[in-house]
Amino acid sequence: MLYHISRPFRLLHRQLVDKNYPPGSHIIERYNVIRKLGSGSYGTTYLCDDTVLNQTCTVKQLRRSRQKRKKYFAMFEREFELLQALQHPAIPEATSFFHTEHGYFFVMDYLAGENIEQHIFDTKKKYTEKDALTLTMDIALIVEYLHAQRIYHGDIRIPNVMLIKGHASLIDFGLAAKFTGSETREEQLRREQDLFDLGDILLYLLYTTFEQTNKKALPWTEELTLSADCKFVLERLLGIRDPFATVAEAVKAMETAKEKAAD
Ligand SMILES: Nc1ncnc2c1ncn2[C@@H]1O[C@H](COP(=O)(O)OP(=O)(O)O)[C@@H](O)[C@H]1O
Ligand SMILES: [Mg+2]
Repeated sequence: MLYHISRPFRLLHRQLVDKNYPPGSHIIERYNVIRKLGSGSYGTTYLCDDTVLNQTCTVKQLRRSRQKRKKYFAMFEREFELLQALQHPAIPEATSFFHTEHGYFFVMDYLAGENIEQHIFDTKKKYTEKDALTLTMDIALIVEYLHAQRIYHGDIRIPNVMLIKGHASLIDFGLAAKFTGSETREEQLRREQDLFDLGDILLYLLYTTFEQTNKKALPWTEELTLSADCKFVLERLLGIRDPFATVAEAVKAMETAKEKAAD
């Protein structure tokens, strides 16, 4: 019924329902909240102390305002199942799923770092062409592992990539999908989307060195001064020309561009 109510009321309702757990509280007896790590459109994550294993962990909660809608619950459950099944050093492993009177939760490894968005904001880091290609390649290698299992992330964006000691880890599998059987058009589109999103990340990183001098915003091809190899990789990732057929192919091209790029 709420969906017919106007947007400001919906947002207010959401805020009241999505009460956060303050530091020092516990989610269930086992998990003491240290602090909130972040919240997105459908979940809120907390850094917690797991008092049984005596170690830190991350607990993600499905927003209470979202839990009544089947679609969001299905996304939340799928995210847990995928994270539980995947075994990769750059993907957090999920260990348990539970339900309390306050909603649905799952527990995963805590990644001691910050997401790329926070990192750039906090450090004002400027990525040279080589740095930008190196980091994008690091992310692409994780995506290559996923695609090899016909898993498509679907939401590769800077707040969903964590940086731990300079290396990327991929989180937030809420929009991910796994395919079986013969390849469909949807699967192809999903692959293309992940490749496009890698291009978008590369472009974002390259823009960290850009300083606006012109009053008018121009297209990136005019605002950025890139080497021919880097520009070619970017255009292919973004599907402007000759798109890459696979992430593996993109990784190879990034490697070549990186070797040629100046420090
Ligand atoms: N396993 C984790 N370890 C450390 N921080 C995390 C972890 N998972 C999420 N976060 C932090 O919480 C934020 C929101 O988590 P995310 O899974 O992206 O939720 P949403 O689906 O709501 O976007 C992330 O951008 C990141 O900063
Ligand atoms: Mg997210």
